Order: sequence, then structure tokens, then C-alpha cells
Amino acid sequence: MTDIARTHLDPRFAIGDIDRRIFGGFVEHLGRHIYDGIYEPGHPSADADGFRTDVIELVQELGVTTIRYPGGNFVSGYRWEDGVGPVSERPRRLDLAWHSTETNEVGLHEFSSWLEKIGSDLMLAVNLGTRGTQEALDLLEYANLPVQTALTDQRVANGRAEPFGVQMWCLGNEMDGFWQLGHRNAEDYGKLASRTAKAMRMLDPELQLVVCGSSSRAMPTFGSWERTVLEHTFADVDFISCHAYYQEHDGKAQEFLASAVDMSRFIDSVVATADHVAAMRDSTKRMMISFDEWNIWYLHLPEGVEAPAPQLDDWPLASRLLEEKYHVLDAVVFGDLLITLLQHADRVRSASLAQLVNVIAPIMTEPGGGAWRQTTFFPFSITSRLAGRHAVRLAIESPTFTSERFGEVGTINGVATVDDDGTSVFLVNRSLSDPQVLEIDVTALGSGLSVRESHLIADDDIYAANTLEDPERVAPRPAEATIADGVLRVTMPAVSWVALRLG
Ligand code: AHR
Repeated sequence: MTDIARTHLDPRFAIGDIDRRIFGGFVEHLGRHIYDGIYEPGHPSADADGFRTDVIELVQELGVTTIRYPGGNFVSGYRWEDGVGPVSERPRRLDLAWHSTETNEVGLHEFSSWLEKIGSDLMLAVNLGTRGTQEALDLLEYANLPVQTALTDQRVANGRAEPFGVQMWCLGNEMDGFWQLGHRNAEDYGKLASRTAKAMRMLDPELQLVVCGSSSRAMPTFGSWERTVLEHTFADVDFISCHAYYQEHDGKAQEFLASAVDMSRFIDSVVATADHVAAMRDSTKRMMISFDEWNIWYLHLPEGVEAPAPQLDDWPLASRLLEEKYHVLDAVVFGDLLITLLQHADRVRSASLAQLVNVIAPIMTEPGGGAWRQTTFFPFSITSRLAGRHAVRLAIESPTFTSERFGEVGTINGVATVDDDGTSVFLVNRSLSDPQVLEIDVTALGSGLSVRESHLIADDDIYAANTLEDPERVAPRPAEATIADGVLRVTMPAVSWVALRLG
């Protein structure tokens, strides 16, 4: 059955300005992300620096802005000095986080040159797991300082006269997680993060600093972690991080389609906690959120299946880790997560899709072979390209379904963006069974409006995916959307994501 859902699109229902850093990505030294992913010197498409140009083109098309690097769990055991200087002299190290060998062929200089080719900005994470304030200061001095010191002399000798000018810095990674090297309680981490942030600002007062929030809303310390950490760091940092990964559990696709409700509640709770800390200090400062890891990830193995135990004599290099194959259902949930980030654009000022190439990634590659777009590539590239400067709320009246975790959930979710160049609308139909028609009153946008572009992600087989053999099995096609008498009418199949550009 097709129900009619309704809403108004009125720029006066403003959420806030969209910070382009919301379309950020994340690159970790993990599996085949760097080696045999973005960097493959022997590949036919490799440039003089060993970077695959077919991958560069796809990352550019994806439209990622700021890229967080080099981890992730990896950063909590990383010695940044290993990755600078002559490549032939760089040490091979064991990466405890992913039980791998790190050759350090790619480090700060190489990664920055890759980013320059892409046209994206670097966001660096420092190691607060096995290291501390001094090493963070050393990296900052090496990377950002324009004056002459022993460390900046090294940078110049290593081929980089101009500072890297990195603006955003993460104070460690997921320090609330028991799996993290150097995991600490909130009290200890909060004190370390505060000390480190104060010291870093003495070197460079213009930095934007991100303190670690919870690794997921399901962490047992969620809420109290944020409160305690912010009580220590409130004056020292600009952002607190959120991380969230979603997956379909036990074949419950309808439940999976409600995942964005979790992300929305996660953001609301962190905002409430941060504003509570502000209130306790009588402060008008508003802590922003860096949602610097989000994606679909089939992290939890089915019951009875266990991950193989790591072997002491086997520390592979660039092995196939976390190589998810994404299907249409994943892409629809993924598009809904992006909608949710935009719905919170007033407080989510930075976000990083985790990750980019081969590792839980929208882009896949084969060593010596092709590169292709996964289904999740499309909602990201289209949203990044079409989103305007200001986010606008859509209060949608639609049928609901009952979620085990979240109660009554609206079937249609959406957000709009506006600026002088036009209006964009992003929508999702979360119903597993029912197509939906949505009527949007657009009279507030004036007359003479037309649909300039439309994109639909949907398929009769919601588990259809792109592969090396069939890289274009799933692609966006035009959506059914018309405007008449001030009403934009959009027809959405069950399990679908739609983007429209009006002008
Ligand atoms: O993105 C994969 C891993 O997920 C990251 O290394 C870590 O921060 C998170 O747990």
C-alpha cells in the first residue's frame, strides 16, 4: 500500500550553517588501506610517488573534505618519527592494534602529498596510548612551526620547507575502549588530554582540538565518560568525538533501517552532557561534535563464529582486514546516517566517514587490478556535491513502524539544504515493504521551481552489491519527482534513498 506523507520546506526552519568538514573521511594504517590500496607503486595507474591515480580520481569524486589520519587504534602505538626521513632507513614495526607489520613507507610527508593531489585537508591524531604530551608537542612542532628548531630543521631536510599547517588535532583515539593500547579511565584520560591540549596551544594557539568521547553509545561508561572528560578539558578543546558503526543483526532488516535513530539520540545525549558541563561553569561556550568515525561495519560475528586467534610468528603486511561488501540496504541506512548528521549541523561541525579505501570502505581495489565504487559511495558523493550552505529542518508526517530498540519510528526521514544557488532535499524510505509518496509544500521557495537533478538508490534485490566482476551492478538512477502547484511530489520505493536538486 502507498501512504501519502507530508511536510513543508521553509528556509525559516533553519538548523544551522553546514561546516564542510562534515564530509570528512578517515584513513588508518590498517589492512590494505594504505599499502595495496591508495599506495601501490607497481600498479599500472601509479604516479611517480607510487599512488594509484584511479583511486585518487575516485576519492576526488567522493568529495571528502578533511581526512583524519593515521588512526584509529593504530595511532595508540604509533611513533610518528618512524614515518619521516629517508624511506630506506625507516624501521619495520609491529602494529599491535591490527596484529600487522608496518613498513612505514608512507608517513606524514607522503600522506600529505597524497592529500594535496586529492584536494583535502589533513586532520592529525596524536598517540596518547603508549605516548604522551612531549611526543604530541614534538609532532606539532615538526608539522606546524614556521621557526627554525632542531625538529623543523629535520622537516626541511626531509623535503618540506613550508609547515604542513594542520588545523585539527585529535587527542588520542577511543581511550574509553578496553581494546585501546593505553586505555585509561575518564579521570586519567581527562587530565592527560587537558595537559596535552594546554601544552599544544602554547606552541600554536590557533589549533582546533578534539577530545575523545565514547567509542559508541553502547559503552558502559557512555555519558559519565563525556561528563568527566569535559569537566577536565572544557576550556582546552573545541570538539568532543563520537564514533558509531551499524550493522544488520540476525537478519532483522527493518530494525537495521532504524539505525539513524540511534545516531540522532547519541548526538542529542552528547550535546546535553556538554551543555550541562557548560551550565555548571556558567559558560556560553558550545562544545562542538566531531563525529569522526561513522559507517556500516559488520563488526559482530554471528553467534558461534569466532575470530581466529593471532599467531606470534605471523604479523602480515597489508592483509585483507575489514573488507566489507556493501549492498543496497547498507547504502540506504548509510544515506540516512548522512541525513542525521546534517539534521544536527548546528553541533556536528566535523565528521569522518570510516574509512575510505578497502577497509570498511566506499572504494575497493584489487592489487594490480581495478578500483570500483561500493553502494555506499553514491549517497556520500551525491550529498557532498549537492548539500548547500545551510541545513533546514523537514518536519515530516509519515506512517511509523515499531522498532524493538526505539519504539515508534517515522518511515520517512529527511533534511533540506538551501543557499543562493538552489535547494537540495535528501530523503530515505525506511519501510522494508511499502513504497511511499511524500508531498512537500515548497511555496516558501517561490514560484518557477523545477527539479534539476534527482537520484534514487533502490533495487528489487536489497542485497545487491558491486564487485570486481560486476562493478556497476548498483548505481543511482533518476527518482520520480515532480513539482506542480507549489507541491513537490516524490515517489519512493521501499528501502530507498533519494536526493533532489531544485532550482
Ligand atoms: O575504523 C576501524 C576501527 O574502529 C578504528 O581503528 C577504531 O578507532 C574503531 O574502533
